[in-house]
Amino acid sequence: MSEQRVIAGNWKMHHGPSATRTFFRDFAPDLGESAPTLIIFPPALSLAAAVESRGGRPEVHLGVQNIHWEEKGAFTGELSVSMVLDAGATYALVGHSERRHVFGETDGEVALKVGACVASGLTPVVCVGETLEERRGGRLEEVIERQLEAALEGLTARPGAHFMVAYEPVWAIGTGETATPEDAAGAHAVLRSVLRKALAEDHAEEVPILYGGSVKPGNAGELLSTAEVDGVLVGGASLDAESFARIAESV
Ligand code: 13P
Repeated sequence: MSEQRVIAGNWKMHHGPSATRTFFRDFAPDLGESAPTLIIFPPALSLAAAVESRGGRPEVHLGVQNIHWEEKGAFTGELSVSMVLDAGATYALVGHSERRHVFGETDGEVALKVGACVASGLTPVVCVGETLEERRGGRLEEVIERQLEAALEGLTARPGAHFMVAYEPVWAIGTGETATPEDAAGAHAVLRSVLRKALAEDHAEEVPILYGGSVKPGNAGELLSTAEVDGVLVGGASLDAESFARIAESV
């Protein structure tokens, strides 16, 4: 279990610059002493608006939802690590299930992206998770172990680099189906043991492992009080300032 508590929101393809400004105008969680790390992943187009409008709020870090591993070049539609750092992002989602399953991102590409992030000081949040078919076929462990081990190949040049892992079972994303705290605890324990095998002892314990998949204000507290769950990665319920604030307050 990591000491760090993380509440992250992945806006996916929602909220252009105007809606981003409105979100930050309204986002005012009452965090008391808890001070979790707050991260929002807006569409890259809305990063500048987020940087401008987040001032005066509890500290909110910003990230991008995808990244390319090359520094620059003829890669139409892609963003490099140095560009997104320059624009004010400090985190990147890597290997989100929609990138893997809708856009065909491979384990090898995930490793390249992790490598590019850690080489330049952008913190990757490596997403892993099994489909319903894989789960029903008894392959949960095998799939998430393979995905995480492949991503860790990207750390070889920077073995102590800061990163996070997000367990997002594909069947729980956007479906209203949430993994039970026991499901999340079991999968997170598998991921922690992969980290223990691959990394130095202290480092393996420090890496936050987040749960994502239909997290809402009504279930966040229970998930966050599960020892193995260091934080949450929220999709739909992070779009509304009030609902995301309530999730942040459940730490
Ligand atoms: P939902 O919270 O909408 O299920 O999305 C989860 C997710 O994919 C976050 O990255």
